[in-house]
Amino acid sequence: MESLIIVYSYHHQNTEKVAKSIANVLGADIKCPDDINPERLQNYDLIGFGSGIYGGVHHKSLLELVDKLPGVTDKKAFLFSTSSGGEANTKREKYHLLREKLESKGYLILDDFHCKGFFGFRGLGLNRGRPNAEDLKRAEEFAQNLKKSVE
Ligand SMILES: Cc1cc2nc3c(=O)[nH]c(=O)nc-3n(C[C@H](O)[C@H](O)[C@H](O)COP(=O)(O)O)c2cc1C
Repeated sequence: MESLIIVYSYHHQNTEKVAKSIANVLGADIKCPDDINPERLQNYDLIGFGSGIYGGVHHKSLLELVDKLPGVTDKKAFLFSTSSGGEANTKREKYHLLREKLESKGYLILDDFHCKGFFGFRGLGLNRGRPNAEDLKRAEEFAQNLKKSVE
C-alpha cells in the first residue's frame, strides 16, 4: 500500500509529531502542501491531510491545495489535526470545511484524528507538552486501524 501524508505544521510542529507517528505505522511519505504535484497523487492508495487548527479551520495551504486537486472516485483519505481547544473544535461546522472540500472532489474520508496541541503566545502556554506520549500512541492506533481497513 502506497501512502502519503500531507501536513502543514508551523506553530510548534505539534501536528508534524502526529504526522510522524502515523507515517511510521503506514510507511508513508510526508510532504508539505507546497511540494505536492496534484497529478502525482494518483500514485497513492491512501492520502492523509493534516494541520493545526487556525481560526477554527485547517491551514489555508491545505484548503487551497484541495481546491486545485483533480476529481477522483472514492480515493481513500484521512484527516488529522491538533488544536489548543481540542475536541470542541471538531463540533463546529467550519472545522469540517476540509472534509467537505475533499468529499466534493470524490475522496472517501475513512477517519479523522484530533488531539490537543501546545499553544504558546507572549509567555502564556496552553496544553504544555501536548501532543504527549499518550496522544502519539493514540495516533499510532488510529494508523493501525486505517491500515486494517485499507488492506
Ligand atoms: C494563528 C493561530 C490561530 C489559532 N487558532 C486556533 C483556533 O481557532 N482554535 C484552536 O483550538 N486553536 C487555535 N490555535 C492553536 C493551534 O491550533 C495549536 O497550537 C496547534 O497545535 C498548532 O499546530 P502546529 O504546531 O502543527 O502548527 C491557533 C494557533 C495560531 C498560531
